[in-house]
Amino acid sequence: MFELINKLAGAYGPSGNEKQVSALIRSILKDKVDEIREDALGNLICVKKGSGKKFMLAAHMDQIGVIVTFIDDKGFLRFGNIGGLRPQVILGQRVVFENGTTGVIWYEENIDDIKKLKLDKMYIDIGATSREEAEGMVKLGDQAVYAADTKLQNGKIISKCMDNRIGCAILVQMALNSPKTENEIYYVFTAQEEVGLRGARTAAFGIVPDMALAVDVTGTGDTPESKPMAVRLGAGPTIKIKDASVISHPAVKDRLIERAKSANIPYQFEIMTFGGTDAGSIHITAGGIPSGGVSVPTRHIHSSAEIVDMKDVENAVELLEHFVK
Ligand code: CO
Ligand code: ZN
Repeated sequence: MFELINKLAGAYGPSGNEKQVSALIRSILKDKVDEIREDALGNLICVKKGSGKKFMLAAHMDQIGVIVTFIDDKGFLRFGNIGGLRPQVILGQRVVFENGTTGVIWYEENIDDIKKLKLDKMYIDIGATSREEAEGMVKLGDQAVYAADTKLQNGKIISKCMDNRIGCAILVQMALNSPKTENEIYYVFTAQEEVGLRGARTAAFGIVPDMALAVDVTGTGDTPESKPMAVRLGAGPTIKIKDASVISHPAVKDRLIERAKSANIPYQFEIMTFGGTDAGSIHITAGGIPSGGVSVPTRHIHSSAEIVDMKDVENAVELLEHFVK
């Protein structure tokens, strides 16, 4: 499964520009599901037909990034955020544009207190020495993402955009495994989650499933001085109780717990006081859709080196397969 994760993490796909990820998933699943369609927002919807209930599993394809807002006389790029970026986390990071142009995120060095660092005091240096040179490499509105590789080390994966290519990998792997069931399964790879759970809303409206799950990442409470959180790397995928965008439907949550118990799959509970997932927009679509989530414990979310445990990923696949049966 690592090869699949590596491929997905290597695709370029900031919010609103997910076509590389979408094309990659389509190429992997084209003969493995009954139907593949794309909606107007760029969601990729892969259907395994069935006569039973409709289950929607959603994983967002998009990743956080930066967008060029201004190019100065000396060829430095000012930028805005796409999704949640912390200045101290992106400082010094290498980023890459869709056309391969590479740069480093740096800052105005007269800032005396690093805590006062704001995005508008930062810039991307692509090595240009004039506006003309920079404009030959990058245009206003171009988006860049972290440039980093994906490594398997001691059973853990260290990579950029595990949020949420790991969720995409889980759904792709599941579709490849094709769990035996009468139920109809919608593997939905959504667009624009990081900018407000946007794609999942139109996808859910087009499907109106009986039940839905967002498959995404969640934080952990196992790093030095981290906020207290009862989630650890390697202790199992999490069953969502709530995040800031949704309170899981009891029927969905209970079904997950029951299936995890009966199949002997380790699990933890996710109670997030901040952050949202696609379930946040799915559950309030149409007349309301019972929704919940399964997440992969992830350290350093939205950094260029997010860490997940391969066991949690494999257990998430297994749990979801039992869930839809
Ligand atoms: Co995210
Ligand atoms: Zn996410």
